[in-house]
Amino acid sequence: MNMTSARDLYPRHAQLPPPSRVRFSPLPVSDTRRGEMVHTADGRELILRGIEPGDVAAVQRCFKRLPAQDVRRRFMHAMSELPVSMAQRLCRIDPELEAAFVLIDETVKPAELRGVGRIFVDVASNTAEFSVLVEHEWTRIGLGALLMQRLVDESRRRGLSEIWGYVLMENRPMLQLCKELGFVAKMVPGEAGTAQISLKL
Ligand SMILES: CC(C)(COP(=O)(O)OP(=O)(O)OC[C@H]1O[C@@H](n2cnc3c(N)ncnc32)[C@H](O)[C@@H]1OP(=O)(O)O)[C@@H](O)C(=O)NCCC(=O)NCCS
Repeated sequence: MNMTSARDLYPRHAQLPPPSRVRFSPLPVSDTRRGEMVHTADGRELILRGIEPGDVAAVQRCFKRLPAQDVRRRFMHAMSELPVSMAQRLCRIDPELEAAFVLIDETVKPAELRGVGRIFVDVASNTAEFSVLVEHEWTRIGLGALLMQRLVDESRRRGLSEIWGYVLMENRPMLQLCKELGFVAKMVPGEAGTAQISLKL
């Protein structure tokens, strides 16, 4: 049985990377019983915590708010809806092989999911595949970088040798974000328009 608690999955303080123009300005962060409080530079607050089985409805509402382009960029193909079975699967992770972090907006009722990042471990290669998503109205304030950094840290904590993911070549925001975090990109043979980006750990 896996005895890893959610508290063990991440350190006590979230470090939200500031935008490049204020890269070295510290951002206030604090601990709460519900997770880590993240304060964005523009004054918004979110809770960062591990995903939970009870997040299914929030995941489905978040999916409904996504523009088609973001759905395609995240899932690598068009999807008109997120079936409840898939939402349940995304929220009920196997902690041996997966980790998923969510950014929850508790200033609204019901609380809404504004971002999610996850890794899936490939035991055979000792690597992890990542995915990340930030709701459009919450982009460009450092949340994508925060989630990616958390996934890198979690992969290192597990002793993995590499974290990698597929990104569409037209997805300039993601390619730029990964470049800033030190990832390298290479083309996927036979998959025109798709890059595999990776970071050795
Ligand atoms: C890609 C994505 C995760 C970026 O999230 P984000 O919260 O906006 O990222 P950040 O605010 O942390 O941005 C960090 C850096 O990435 C780059 N970046 C992010 N969005 C960008 C954009 N639209 N144009 C150019 N650069 C961009 C910038 O260098 C940025 O730093 P800066 O704001 O200081 O200039 C988000 O746009 C998203 O969820 N897209 C849809 C899903 C997806 O593409 N997932 C990736 C495949 S799994």
